[in-house]
Amino acid sequence: MINIEIWASGGGSNADKILTYFKNNPIIEVVSLGCNRSKAGAFNVAHKHQIKSILWDKKSWEISNIIHGLKERSVDFIVLAGFLKLVPKEIIEHYKGRIVNIHPSLLPKYGGKNMYGNHVHEAIIHDEEKKSGITIHEVNEEFDKGKILAQFSVNLDINDDVKSLRKKIQYLEHQHFSSIIHSWIKSKSQ
Ligand code: GAR
Repeated sequence: MINIEIWASGGGSNADKILTYFKNNPIIEVVSLGCNRSKAGAFNVAHKHQIKSILWDKKSWEISNIIHGLKERSVDFIVLAGFLKLVPKEIIEHYKGRIVNIHPSLLPKYGGKNMYGNHVHEAIIHDEEKKSGITIHEVNEEFDKGKILAQFSVNLDINDDVKSLRKKIQYLEHQHFSSIIHSWIKSKSQ
């Protein structure tokens, strides 16, 4: 089996889609979900799909502890689905080319530190952009700078606000993230 662990910090709607997508896959399994916020909706998603969840607080968010846990759970790939902490470079080193992230803009535009979730959408609305989208990319040591695997775009209307843009972006994420993860893992496992 190839084991995926999802890392999330928020509501976990992408985690939910990914878990559903891989439910009956005979080779790839989502085994666990890690989260750094005790009240995150992502925990409900883990509970719904009956997978193990891990909460990292200030004390347990520590390199050797994280790596120990990943080994114990035999994690092969890490999927960042709305995970808002910087992944420590030791973990990136350990999982070189095996961590993927989704970002709610067309990188390199609107990426980098402090560009996440609504902040991205607010900046795009403020700048009166005509287009936005999503980027699915491998993770390296720099925020939002890893190798791009796929991008999907959507047009903005004159009436779009943060809420309607978020909805459009979420639709794209739910539509594409799981299948891109699938083909990415297949290409790495040949
Ligand atoms: C998603 O829109 C994802 O692109 C974004 O967080 C949201 C999580 O939603 N990630 C980032 O901004 C990373 N820089 P979810 O918890 O409902 O899956």
